[in-house]
Amino acid sequence: MSVSLSTPQPGIFALGTASHAYLELDLQDGARAADLVAGIADLREPRTTIGGINFVAGFRPELWLEVAPHDTPPGLHGFDEPLVGPDGYTMPATQHDALLWLAGSSYDVVFDVARAALSHLAPLARATNEVSCWPYRHHRDLTGFIDGTENPSVAEAQIAALIPPGASGAGGSVVLLQQWIHDTAWDALPVHAQEQAMGRTKEDSVELDDRPEDSHVARTDQEEFGDIFRRNMPFGTVIEHGTMFVGFSAEQQRLSRMLESMAGMLGTPRDALTRYAKPVTGSYYFVPSVPVLEAFGTAEDED
Ligand code: HEM
Repeated sequence: MSVSLSTPQPGIFALGTASHAYLELDLQDGARAADLVAGIADLREPRTTIGGINFVAGFRPELWLEVAPHDTPPGLHGFDEPLVGPDGYTMPATQHDALLWLAGSSYDVVFDVARAALSHLAPLARATNEVSCWPYRHHRDLTGFIDGTENPSVAEAQIAALIPPGASGAGGSVVLLQQWIHDTAWDALPVHAQEQAMGRTKEDSVELDDRPEDSHVARTDQEEFGDIFRRNMPFGTVIEHGTMFVGFSAEQQRLSRMLESMAGMLGTPRDALTRYAKPVTGSYYFVPSVPVLEAFGTAEDED
């Protein structure tokens, strides 16, 4: 395969794996940002990547800017301030320094690779947040609705998610990682009320002709905000569970404006879904292209 300067991290688009781990890392005291980027670049080498694991690495925008100023989209910023809607509804800011997303066919493999990766990185960074995810009834999220219907096709997903060739950060992507806990009040709603909140039918995900203004799909309409590529996954236990929102975009603003819209900050009503699901984390990462990340690696070339 030819690797152009803008070859994206393939895991962004690798659909269909059954087990996922999202690890958010923070630099150890005194560790250098450039060393962490090098350490993560080295993880792509065979000695720590085994068993067909998809591996996506991202960095806090300001950390990435420090080590790769010429490969950073202008104006990129972390999730540093909570978003507060006009009624006080709050989306917390829980930015970390780096993200490792590992996905594979079963959790044992993901677990082993994740542990090896963290042990390799231990002198540089520690994992301070971890969420494991698994698919629910094919493509549904834990609201019971099909999630991803309006995602761009695989070909269009590259355009939605990747910084275009020639621009600063080409082949990279901005990801919003936001963990949402679902409220059991959702399950108590009749299906009709759930459909009004989502703006689509529950069984087969048909958009409602008269979707309410506060429905989730009205508040995140990609015709208004621009296309993004979502890789949301369910997480949790029987008692506490929800949705890991994982959204990739060529432009951070598409994601940040969708959040503002959901919180009711754009002069439109607050998203009905936010009355039944609560975000407990929020962070943005820059996911550089493969060649740009690999240029930081220090492991010996195996070829
Ligand atoms: C608890 C959290 C969330 C759940 C359960 C959820 C679920 C869903 C579902 C079921 C749909 C309809 C089917 C589809 O097109 O995928 C949808 C649409 C969508 N969601 Fe979410 N979502 C959540 C959070 C978010 C967040 C935080 C964002 C943006 C930052 C977002 C962006 C979108 C977009 C762009 C669409 C498609 C809108 C369109 O029709 O153009 N979602 N979501």
